[in-house]
Amino acid sequence: MLQMADVRKRYALPTEKEILAGLDEGATLPAEFYYAPEVYALEQEKIFAKSWQYACHESAVAKPGDYAVTKAGSTPIIVTHGKDGELRGFVNVCRHRLHSIAEENGSKPLLQCPYHGWTYGLDGKLKTAPRSQREANFDCATISLEPVAVERWDQWVFVNPDPAAPPLATVTADMRGFTDDINAELREYEFQVRYEYDMTCNWKVWAENAVECYHCPTLHQSSFGKTYHTNPDDYAVRSGDNTIWHDGPIKWLPGNVDPAGLRGFRFAFTFPSSFFALDDYVGFIGSVQPVGPEKCWAFVDMYAKPGADPVVVKEWLEMWDQTLIEDKRATDIQQIGYRSGRIPTGRLMLDSESPLQAFMKTTLSALSL
Ligand code: FES
Ligand SMILES: [Fe+2]
Repeated sequence: MLQMADVRKRYALPTEKEILAGLDEGATLPAEFYYAPEVYALEQEKIFAKSWQYACHESAVAKPGDYAVTKAGSTPIIVTHGKDGELRGFVNVCRHRLHSIAEENGSKPLLQCPYHGWTYGLDGKLKTAPRSQREANFDCATISLEPVAVERWDQWVFVNPDPAAPPLATVTADMRGFTDDINAELREYEFQVRYEYDMTCNWKVWAENAVECYHCPTLHQSSFGKTYHTNPDDYAVRSGDNTIWHDGPIKWLPGNVDPAGLRGFRFAFTFPSSFFALDDYVGFIGSVQPVGPEKCWAFVDMYAKPGADPVVVKEWLEMWDQTLIEDKRATDIQQIGYRSGRIPTGRLMLDSESPLQAFMKTTLSALSL
């Protein structure tokens, strides 16, 4: 099995201790981490196969028989709502010859693989397989979909491909005090639209952009940076091992509305790839998914507060799309820089970019385990 030591040798990288010392001083991870196929393979195995990732809103699996499909890294996953009321998750791969069980969300009492018709219960157990009575030694009762871990985080359903993973509630305990509040508010917001973005950059380049706001006054001067106060005395960031939190006040509203008294923007990120946020008008949940060493895809499901000024809501939804398009442009261009082979590491501005240091340390330690 591939290990970090093999990757270090292949790319003549510093030792993990040296990389960690560099991170402490404000260096970024080595540039190779952002394009080497071996690092990507290691990340799939050591990060995405073992981490909690956003799957769907609870409404997608609200009643018995409902199921939702998602991916956690390269693992296809199906979440089911059983007759007993339990949410369960399985690798969305048939035990016959590995077709998916479902390609889209739906609602059925049984899950039938569309390829040859093997039929599973919502508990993952194989019930019937066509022509099984003609087989010697074939016992449906011994076959089941491969389980994964599922947990609710308020209205959000998260999955972890590792059924023995530590609970999401434990991993994100240091942020629950903040997220309890925003999720209670966001629960009332109504779904509007899904934004999707295809990037030609490593997933970490995009995630790192999402967890710092040092770029907000420049890159987003006519979008996020116009809407919110983003200078360091107003805009707060904090991070734990697996969590990052941002909050900042609203600076400007269309129609000369006074932002005084509004709660402002609040943002929660959980390692490696999921995030949700809201302000007084709109909210969202999203995730970035690795697609290849230098490709990723992100979706952001936008919600709006019922009864909020429709002029602001419309403007805010457009502002977020513009912000995320600006992010995509920047991260695609950064990838060329990482790829250049001329710059071994970047240099963080730790007062503003401390969440990146935390993100990079968590990445390094996951890969080194
Ligand atoms: S692959 Fe599912 S029934 Fe054949
Ligand atoms: Fe941004």
